[in-house]
Amino acid sequence: MKIKILTLFPNMYEGFINESIIKRAIDKGVCEIEIIDFRKYSKDKFHHVDDTPCGGGAGMVLKCDILDEAISDNKTLNSYVILATPQGRVLTEKISEELSQKEEIMIVCGHYEGFDERIRTFADDEISIGDYVLTGGELASMVISDSVIRLLDDAINAESKSDDSFSNGLLEYPQYTRPVEYKGMRVPDVLLSGNHKDIREYRLKESLRKTLERRPDLLEKKVLTKEEVKLLEEIKKEKN
Ligand code: 6GU
Repeated sequence: MKIKILTLFPNMYEGFINESIIKRAIDKGVCEIEIIDFRKYSKDKFHHVDDTPCGGGAGMVLKCDILDEAISDNKTLNSYVILATPQGRVLTEKISEELSQKEEIMIVCGHYEGFDERIRTFADDEISIGDYVLTGGELASMVISDSVIRLLDDAINAESKSDDSFSNGLLEYPQYTRPVEYKGMRVPDVLLSGNHKDIREYRLKESLRKTLERRPDLLEKKVLTKEEVKLLEEIKKEKN
């Protein structure tokens, strides 16, 4: 997959691209990331990309002609163009899965007070990463890219993905590693038993317990299997 990011702050991506799993995915050829500084599309000698809002008010607005040119100059037939904006649909694992199927995504990062409204007509999608305001779309573009890249084949171990929070609509079960006892807290015996059937059931049950406690909204959205219904009943009985 190819990811193109249009930004005014290319230096912000240095650590993102050159560290850890993302770096490894790029080195392995799982994905390619191109950072494009759209200031080079400015048309005046001061390299302006924004202007004051029509109708007055505070701040600056990104110009639609410059963004239009930057987008069309870099997009291909396969590009899926996403505006990073707090007005977009809120990112979920499902949306990341959807995006991971695309051949190429282009993420356009806003800054200042926002985009000229007409820029929206040049995009296929608008995505927000949550209900709070960031100073710009750069961090959001990294969040979107990170969550998409880890879903690509060979980016990370397939087994570790299938157990992660949200992948099955539930929060992940609790994990432990050695030492077996620490400050009076013991690793649950079942995890040391070597009994894979019991371990699988324990993990599913604890996954359900955590989701019920912390994110009951996720359970309401999920279609439960018979086993999950039974385990949830046990959990509710244990609480009483
Ligand atoms: Cl994509 N951009 C900005 N500026 N703020 C945000 C956001 C994006 N998503 C949540 N807050």
